[in-house]
Amino acid sequence: MATIVSGFSKLSKEQKVDWLVNNHFSNATNAKQTLTQYWNEDEKLQQLHDEFIENTITNYYLPFGVAPNFVINDKVYTIPMTIEESSVVAAASKAAKFWQSRGGFKTQVISTTKIGQVHFMFEGEKDQLFSFFDHIKPKLIQDAKPITKNMEKRGGGILDIKLIDKTVDLDHYYQLHATFETLDAMGANFINSCLEQFAKTFKAEAEKQQLVPVEIIMSILSNYVPECLVRAEVSCKVEELAEKDINPNTFAEKFVQAVKIAEIEPYRAVTHNKGVMNGIDAVILATGNDFRAVEAGVHAYASKDGKYSSLTHAKIENGIFSFWIEIPLALGTVGGLTSLHPLVKLALKQLDNPTAKELMQIVAVAGLAQNFAALRSLTTTGIQEGHMKMHLMNILNQYEATTKEKEIIINHFKQNTVSHSAVVEQIEKLRA
Ligand code: MEV
Repeated sequence: MATIVSGFSKLSKEQKVDWLVNNHFSNATNAKQTLTQYWNEDEKLQQLHDEFIENTITNYYLPFGVAPNFVINDKVYTIPMTIEESSVVAAASKAAKFWQSRGGFKTQVISTTKIGQVHFMFEGEKDQLFSFFDHIKPKLIQDAKPITKNMEKRGGGILDIKLIDKTVDLDHYYQLHATFETLDAMGANFINSCLEQFAKTFKAEAEKQQLVPVEIIMSILSNYVPECLVRAEVSCKVEELAEKDINPNTFAEKFVQAVKIAEIEPYRAVTHNKGVMNGIDAVILATGNDFRAVEAGVHAYASKDGKYSSLTHAKIENGIFSFWIEIPLALGTVGGLTSLHPLVKLALKQLDNPTAKELMQIVAVAGLAQNFAALRSLTTTGIQEGHMKMHLMNILNQYEATTKEKEIIINHFKQNTVSHSAVVEQIEKLRA
């Protein structure tokens, strides 16, 4: 049973670990060993990680893998991926290889506008509020200059601010809806600072002009960014889809049907898009971006027409198979973790230090490739063949198989179907 603790954040890391293991584990020594075995010997590196969040007690490792052979707009990339799911990097690499000899991926950034809102309540005359806003708008922008001047020097900044009447949906509710260009920064701090300044100026000026009180509720960016859009596509002649056991026409038709099912059927769309996000999140994490923001925004976009639907689309036209994705991605390649976390810095360097626009394209490709790999398996062999092959190592590790045992069993399953029980049977047989 947990106990209430006060002043926990002020304890040292060692004291926090001691408190935790003594209060939550029957075998405190064992728990402490599990936690401290991940501490890095390099104290500076450890301190960097400790200071990312409050109450850090250890490091949580995830694999950092790479998927080579991605040809994007005729340039070759090796994409960094951070993910725990065994088959994801293998699937991405397979899809990259497949499309590398069929023209590669073509991408395009459609727009890069980010959004933030000041939400407020106003009970007075609507017309008076709108004319006050028109009058005050230049001052809103002017008062934010100390925050925006550096961004403006680089070509970004505030694009526009609009007053929106939301009183039909909620009594007295209005918003300042602002749009921003944040260039290579994801821009969350920049946008939120601007918004808080708008709110301050807006309220102060309203008071000066004795407008019926404006009650600021909150100022925050939106993670829904339907105007920060990127598109990625692959296409080839249907006959070029041929592979050893695959009839290209049947494959192309089944593939397009699979996408159409995800377009109209929400249960399938969610799983379909989960597969897309396998690729997207892995690159987002590896490059130090905010995967929760991306997830929230992408799924909202998947519902933009009033029903949750597929993020990818496919067609066959005049003998050409095309498969594409269009998604909102607010990413940064400067700021945040990008100049702090050594592996994030490495991941970005590995991608030739991309601009945010370039990273949007790479991430969209990772999502499309992942979805291609999943649908290719689902509509041909079924997903379990590849999944279980990759999962084999997890089962072997769970049973603490030795290197020799792994070698023999992996060899055995080259010709046999992997299942949990079949693997256990082989381990027991070997050990008998
Ligand atoms: C598993 O992580 C992802 C898939 O379920 C995606 C899909 O069904 O398209 C294989």
